[in-house]
Parts: sequence; C-alpha cells; structure tokens
Amino acid sequence: MVPAEQFLDALKRRAKLLAPSAIATYEANTELATWLLNPLARWTAAAYGPQAFDDAAVGYAKYALGVARAQQIYEKNGRYTPEAMPEIVTGVYEDASYMVPYMWAAILIYAFWPSMIGHLALFRDQFVRQLPANASVLELASGHGVMSLLVAEERPDVRVWGFDISPPAVAVATRLLAVSGHEGRVSFAVQDAIDPRAARDEKQYEGIVSAMLAEHLESPQSLLAAIARRVAPTGAVFFSTALESAQRDHVYEFNHESEPIRLAEDAGLRVQRLVSDGGATGAHVRFQPRATAMILQARVGSAAQRSQEHNA
Ligand SMILES: C[S@@+](CC[C@H](N)C(=O)[O-])C[C@H]1O[C@@H](n2cnc3c(N)ncnc32)[C@H](O)[C@@H]1O
Repeated sequence: MVPAEQFLDALKRRAKLLAPSAIATYEANTELATWLLNPLARWTAAAYGPQAFDDAAVGYAKYALGVARAQQIYEKNGRYTPEAMPEIVTGVYEDASYMVPYMWAAILIYAFWPSMIGHLALFRDQFVRQLPANASVLELASGHGVMSLLVAEERPDVRVWGFDISPPAVAVATRLLAVSGHEGRVSFAVQDAIDPRAARDEKQYEGIVSAMLAEHLESPQSLLAAIARRVAPTGAVFFSTALESAQRDHVYEFNHESEPIRLAEDAGLRVQRLVSDGGATGAHVRFQPRATAMILQARVGSAAQRSQEHNA
C-alpha cells in the first residue's frame, strides 16, 4: 500500500458517504494526488501516530458537511452571512478544537475535490518547479504548513517562511515540520498577513504563496498590495481564492473570476496563468462554488515595481 492510501482507508471507515467521490478524484489524478498525499502520510504518521488518519477523515467529513450547510443558507439568502470577525478569530482561528480538524480538511481537499486538484497541478508545475535556484519563498496563511513543506520537499535549494494568524494552525505546521527533515530551511510563525507591522519585512521574495486566504479578509485589496510589495521584480506568486462558496469564515464574497483578477491587476500584478473550477456538478443553482488559482508576476513599470526598484 502506498502511504497515501492510509487517508483513503480512513475515509472509507470514518467518512463513508464522502469516500466514493474523494476516491474517484484521487483515482483520476493519482500521480498528482500522491505527490501531495505520500509525503503528507509520512509526516502525519511520524508526527501524530496512526490514529491521525482517522482524525483527518473525521475533520474532512465535518468540514464538508459544514460547507454544504453554509452553501444551502447562501443559496436561500443570496449573500454570504459569515460570523463577525471577532467571533471568527476566537471561534475559528484561536480554537484548536475547531482549527485542527479544519486544517486536515483544508489540505485533503486538494487531493479529493475536483475543484482543487487543478490548483495542485498549477502549484507544482507552474510555481514550485519554476522557482529560480536558491529562491526565498514566503507563504501567507500557511495554515497546516503543507504547501510550504511540499515546496521544500520538491526543491532542496530553496528557503521558505510561512505565516498564519492562527496559533493552533502554526502548531500543526511546526509539528509536521519537525518530522519532515526540512527544519533548517522552513520556518512557521504567527503573523497577520496584512498587519502593517509585518511591512517591516520588505524582503524581496522570488516566490509568494497566498492560497485560499483572500476570501477570509474584509479587504483583500490590502493582501494583493502586500504581495505586490514583497515579490521580487522577476518573482512569481501562487494566489488562490474561493468564489460563491459560503463558510462561517468566508467574509469577502467573490462572484466573478474577473474580481480577483482585477484586484491583482490594480495592485500592479499581471496574471500569467489561471485555473478556475467548480467541478462538474451540472447543478442549476444561483451560486456555484468555485476555486480560482493564478500565477501572478509584477508588471514591468508598475507602481509596485517602481517602488521595489527605488528601494533596492
Ligand atoms: C482555508 S485556510 C487555507 C490554508 C492553506 N493556505 C491552504 O491553502 O490550505 C485559511 C487560512 O487563513 C488563515 N488566515 C485567516 N486570516 C488571516 C490573516 N489575516 N493573516 C494570516 N492568516 C490568516 C487561517 O488561519 C487559515 O489557516
């Protein structure tokens, strides 16, 4: 049995209703899905022991049911109705009993959801494998830390700094890092991605990852501005976000692919590649949950690039 299959077996035991569709996505994309799940299974077993596969499956099931319920309410109300930000901070980001199962789900959906598997392909083939030698990489909202760890696993020459607002998420990332063999090259810390105090860190990163964060912010404009400020003139950004996809902590509603594109362009970035997928639902609904991922670069001559050149 390949290590990845421990997650599938756990889904069959602990998330029976959801297992068939997750396994179908895995089987249609095995090479890509195992690129994520094989190392993740090794780190999971080493950091948390064999019980963690069942915990991950239960987290995945709880999350998927919560998403389905939130989407029904959204379809009825016609707009997102998230909790207020202070409640999201205490009830989601600071609460380990919510955050840890959520983090298992957040990473497993890349292998198990038709709308997310294309993000993994873009991330691996058009971002990680294209980074220049010895690149410095920044991950904003690193959550479980697995995207950063995959960068390190694939690219032994690069260094990665991951930041997240959630202490329990950073604890998960740090625990996986400790068994990954990448401790000298990857670090995780608690930090708000758009806190102006983080602007002290004006390092020019050749790679920036901002995956599934923008929809969690009241002002995603400030995230794109922070990214534009920190990306090196020839660097690349992997940016993704959710569209028409309700959750208790999704506070910014994107309806059209053009909206995050516009925010990126307004910040002085150029879209090089884009994938946007809702999976083949065939459903005729008012709102179709989708996930959009892009590769962005600084636009030559943009305000962002001029200010980088000025500061250099
Ligand atoms: C859906 S998870 C995404 C995790 C990971 N990037 C991924 O793609 O699976 C959203 C993450 O955003 C983090 N987050 C929310 N607001 C943030 C902020 N202002 N600064 C940094 N992280 C934030 C949460 O703690 C959570 O880990």
